[in-house]
Amino acid sequence: MPDMDDVQDGKNYHFGTPQQANVFFLKGSNSLEWGMKNRLARIFNPASGKTVMLAVDHGYFQGPTTGLERIDVSIVPLVPYADALMITRGALRTSVPPEISKPVVLRSTGGQSILKELSNELVAVDIEDAVRVNASALAVQVYIGGQHEHESIGNLVKVADAGNRYGIPTLGVTGVGKELVRDANYLGLATRICAEMGAHFVKTYYCEKNFERVAAACPVPVVIAGGKKLPEPEALAMAYHAIQQGAAGVDMGRNIFQCEAPTAMIQAVRAVVHEQEHPDKAYELYLSLKEGSKTEKTVLAR
Ligand code: R5P
Repeated sequence: MPDMDDVQDGKNYHFGTPQQANVFFLKGSNSLEWGMKNRLARIFNPASGKTVMLAVDHGYFQGPTTGLERIDVSIVPLVPYADALMITRGALRTSVPPEISKPVVLRSTGGQSILKELSNELVAVDIEDAVRVNASALAVQVYIGGQHEHESIGNLVKVADAGNRYGIPTLGVTGVGKELVRDANYLGLATRICAEMGAHFVKTYYCEKNFERVAAACPVPVVIAGGKKLPEPEALAMAYHAIQQGAAGVDMGRNIFQCEAPTAMIQAVRAVVHEQEHPDKAYELYLSLKEGSKTEKTVLAR
């Protein structure tokens, strides 16, 4: 029986204070349900409105690419520095300890390899399994202009509908085949289609000209992929320009895990994304953290 000894009447009802009706901090997300917003607020930092997602899902079509040979060894130590981890269920279950507190953006389409047509994907996880691994979002590749454009949009629709039933947001990932030009016209088309077909946030590439138009015309937050490995100053400059031009963060893989000092790099990227640090300063930070980690290793080795 509940304890009835000390039941007190309420005293302070704050009659003069209207109940708060907050506007949610992410664009295009205000009408979403509480669970969706809560999950998005785990991925995007409500203080900065931005995110640094660590993308390590490349194995789903590339196999053990450089830097991802052993996710347990090379990626798990980076997780504390990321705001979210983008990963397949296989890599998550086998190689990432369930004690991590970071939200998981679950790769939810696949079904092809680098040996075949890349746009030929299907929905590759059941929504119940996504719930089972406590996914905070579902990632779907969409190939606008690709051979299987129609099916890939269908995958986005199916996953977004399933996620909507459980309050799990969907990330639309704009996959670009080799034959397509990554300019603002193409990226604007691809990101807008993803948002209109139900994606709650969209991942795309940065383009040097008119990226601000891509970000502005997408009614949900846009995050940029890092793309192929660049020299660190260039990767930091790309992240900086994307943020300045309206991106809500990065979902970066190779430019972090293929770095000589991935832990230093992810911290430098964080400075650019969350603190709007200038890329020159962020590169200085990268170098000093890299040097510090060498010293630390030397000390540990002695
Ligand atoms: C690619 O299909 C995957 O979704 C990757 O997560 C994505 O390309 C981001 O990784 P990166 O920064 O290496 O381009």
